[in-house]
Amino acid sequence: MLGALDAERSRGLDAFGAATTLEELETAQIEILGRKSAFGQLQRALGGLAESDRRTIGASVNAIRAELQTLLDARRAELAHVAEAELLDADRIDMTLPGRRPRPGSLHPMTLVEREIIDVFTSMGFRVVEGPEIEDDWHNFQALNIPPDHPARTMKDSLYVDIPGHPELLLRTETSAAQIRTMQSQPPPVYIVSPGRVYRRETTDATHLPVFTQVECLAVDEGITFAHLKGTLEVMAKALFGERRRIRLGPAYFPFVEPGAEVGVSCFRCDGEGCPVCGNGWIELLGAGMVHPNVLENCGYDSERYTGFAFGLGVERTALFRYGIPDIRLLIDGDVRFLEQFGVSA
Ligand code: FA5
Repeated sequence: MLGALDAERSRGLDAFGAATTLEELETAQIEILGRKSAFGQLQRALGGLAESDRRTIGASVNAIRAELQTLLDARRAELAHVAEAELLDADRIDMTLPGRRPRPGSLHPMTLVEREIIDVFTSMGFRVVEGPEIEDDWHNFQALNIPPDHPARTMKDSLYVDIPGHPELLLRTETSAAQIRTMQSQPPPVYIVSPGRVYRRETTDATHLPVFTQVECLAVDEGITFAHLKGTLEVMAKALFGERRRIRLGPAYFPFVEPGAEVGVSCFRCDGEGCPVCGNGWIELLGAGMVHPNVLENCGYDSERYTGFAFGLGVERTALFRYGIPDIRLLIDGDVRFLEQFGVSA
């Protein structure tokens, strides 16, 4: 039995010494000192020995177990140290290397131009209001002087929303519904701008998107004339496109204004001469006009006493002309190489 114990001692010393990782040491411990190991069986066999043998062999068992345990502990400490050193080595940071500077984001050209537009109007005393993107038929059409059988409805390629119990909901086709909601909510005078997304069943091309952004402007007060509309448009055109810009108004039909106008701005590139950007020297940017008396009356305003002007500006188109962007789709592609050119931090 002493011979067998000695053999286990040697096996243990070899196995613990040979383990190169904590996992290997763990396996060796179970194999040499575990309950099912040969050493464990020898220890259990002590019970069957005569008293005197048990004492001497028992002392040997204890001494060998203590010796192996001491070696095991020492080896475990050694391997833990090695493992930690390896981890630290792998994690080491070279403080002398140049740092990696985080790339700051920048504002989207649409955000930039929308803010510029809003700034122009708030500096003139207009207030910003927002309306819902899902509108009902009355706010989007009827209150804007477009009754159910009006041909102007067919000019608008509208997108209806299928919500059970609400047959007359649609994605607003223009921001003009914000005029109605504002006038319904307050007495005159009204001076507001209303930015927001609008939706039309349109085919996408270089200057058209089915989802785009408008800024609606509305002024209703006593004594508002077409001259106020023209003056406001001139201030806006110069602020957005430069002091040299001129505006041009041509007749246009919108059911909610009378008279109505299509407004062009002299091209920022050729100054009205005609070039590939504009074609004929003018860039058509927005629709405008004097608020139709029916619209004022629909909102409970006295159209004998109050008059107003309104216009709706396309923000994507403004961004195209403001920055010389050749295709409106670049604004929604999310191509970082394009967006980086507008590196203005938030
Ligand atoms: C309107 O939407 C009128 N509500 C504007 C208005 C308001 C007139 C108040 C009178 C009084 P229009 O459909 O022309 O009008 O659109 C206005 C502007 O939105 C256009 O001049 C153009 O700049 C922009 N726009 C129109 N359709 C698109 C489109 N598919 N993609 C991008 N921009 C568009």
